[in-house]
Amino acid sequence: MSVDESAESGARHVAIIMDGNGRWAKKRALPRAIGHQRGVEVVRRLVRALEPMNLDCLTLYAFSSENWKRSEDEVDDLMNLMRRFIKSDLAEFVANDVKLKIIGDWRSLAPDIVGMLEDALQQTANGKQTLAVALNYGSQNEIARAAAKAGAIGEITPQSIAAQLDTADLPPLDLLIRTSGEVRLSNFLLWQSAYAEMLFVDTLWPDFKPEHLSRALQDFAQRERRYGGR
Ligand code: FPP
Repeated sequence: MSVDESAESGARHVAIIMDGNGRWAKKRALPRAIGHQRGVEVVRRLVRALEPMNLDCLTLYAFSSENWKRSEDEVDDLMNLMRRFIKSDLAEFVANDVKLKIIGDWRSLAPDIVGMLEDALQQTANGKQTLAVALNYGSQNEIARAAAKAGAIGEITPQSIAAQLDTADLPPLDLLIRTSGEVRLSNFLLWQSAYAEMLFVDTLWPDFKPEHLSRALQDFAQRERRYGGR
């Protein structure tokens, strides 16, 4: 199936746990940082495919609140990649009507990154398709924060919590994909995944191509979602 044909899948919001950069690099005896660099290339190509695939939103797990446990060098590499990505791709986002959104506790990142992100959010605010990037994100923390806010306003209900989640302004999640053969959610979009379809693929993230996403959307189109009914 071509990228264009996938436009009829019916999916509006896809989220991806981008896993396998380290294993991709190890297989080639390259530093992990190169795997992450290739991973950014994949992100760039997918963002360009959002419009032909007719997706409203792509949410990517770029840095979890647990990723701080990695070596200082690797954390620095990932933060530097984020800086470079914003610098190099922001103009293209603006030109292509891509709206950036950040979820997670991103305001506690380094002040220069927070500043760059605030500027990018402002510059892309009128975009049509959303690239949501999870940074310093943990789903349990997001739910706890949302529940606390909901409780401060009024009654705590599933609806009042959902309205306070970082993703409250995004379409409902249709499909969650994890690459690299691991089959777990790793504290990503736990609430939002309640009725999402899930797809676990063996492809390592640096090898993931827009065609893989097309295939995933085709797979999604053939699933029957019942939301608990029959
Ligand atoms: C998982 O691979 C990947 C990450 C923890 C980081 C994902 C980040 C990127 C692709 C780049 C930054 C993204 C943007 C949007 C600029 P791993 O290192 O856990 O791989 P492994 O399990 O094979 O070791």
